[in-house]
Amino acid sequence: MALLEVRDLHTFYGSVEALKGVSLDVDEGEIVALIGSNGAGKTTTLRTISGLERARAGTVRFAGRDITRAPAHEIVALGLGHVPEGRRIFSGLTVEENLNLGGYLLRRQPALLKERRDEVYAIFPRLAERRHQLAGTLSGGEQQMLAIGRALMLQPKLLALDEPSMGLAPMLVRTIFGIIQEIRRRGTAVLLVEQNARQALRIADRGYVLETGRIVLSDDAAKLAADPRVRAAYLGGHVEAAAR
Ligand SMILES: Nc1ncnc2c1ncn2[C@@H]1O[C@H](COP(=O)(O)OP(=O)(O)OP(=O)(O)O)[C@@H](O)[C@H]1O
Ligand SMILES: [Mg+2]
Repeated sequence: MALLEVRDLHTFYGSVEALKGVSLDVDEGEIVALIGSNGAGKTTTLRTISGLERARAGTVRFAGRDITRAPAHEIVALGLGHVPEGRRIFSGLTVEENLNLGGYLLRRQPALLKERRDEVYAIFPRLAERRHQLAGTLSGGEQQMLAIGRALMLQPKLLALDEPSMGLAPMLVRTIFGIIQEIRRRGTAVLLVEQNARQALRIADRGYVLETGRIVLSDDAAKLAADPRVRAAYLGGHVEAAAR
């Protein structure tokens, strides 16, 4: 039994069917990439899994439990963290206050809360240096680190990341991908939504390709990266060939 089992999800916005039967699995300790073009339904898939959108049909099982109709805060408490598209941090609060909010379930255990913050600071030394800085004054990359760090405060079994590299300079993109590998090394499985398919498939174990609400391909990440259809549509295969 996989840690996360998504079966035949159908999600609508009004009469528009954004997910037309999405199924995918994430095993413990795995990095699984979900790639696809703009509007394919990647964000909708993550939001439905996390209880932020309601599926009209299909099921989501996590750690052996049916969470299809569970409220979002319960899903977080079960160990499924979600870092949304566009880093929703609280810009008027400090780095440390943002982390404390991520660990709100531990609010009556200050010693444990501090321990978790220190673990996050060990992964993100840049956040440690800026712990009393207002989050709104952090750089884009630092805000992304804070969004990820906040989700790690409850030591999730699975972390769903929506476009963590969006808008970051190439060096920071590498940093973020390195951190995702570190998160997995510490025992958290990762469901990674990325437009940066090449780098996502490089660190992932397996991957799924989503097109207009349907999974059209799934395989080991290395096989997907070598697949001519994936190369042409998502890895800039033509551009690369022309550059040689
Ligand atoms: N709140 C909403 N109301 C109506 N339609 C929506 C809403 N959110 C998404 N959609 C539509 O659902 C489809 C899937 O959108 P989604 O945001 O899941 O795509 P995505 O793969 O994450 O795209 P991107 O790469 O641009 O982030 C799109 O056609 C989009 O226009
Ligand atoms: Mg999206």
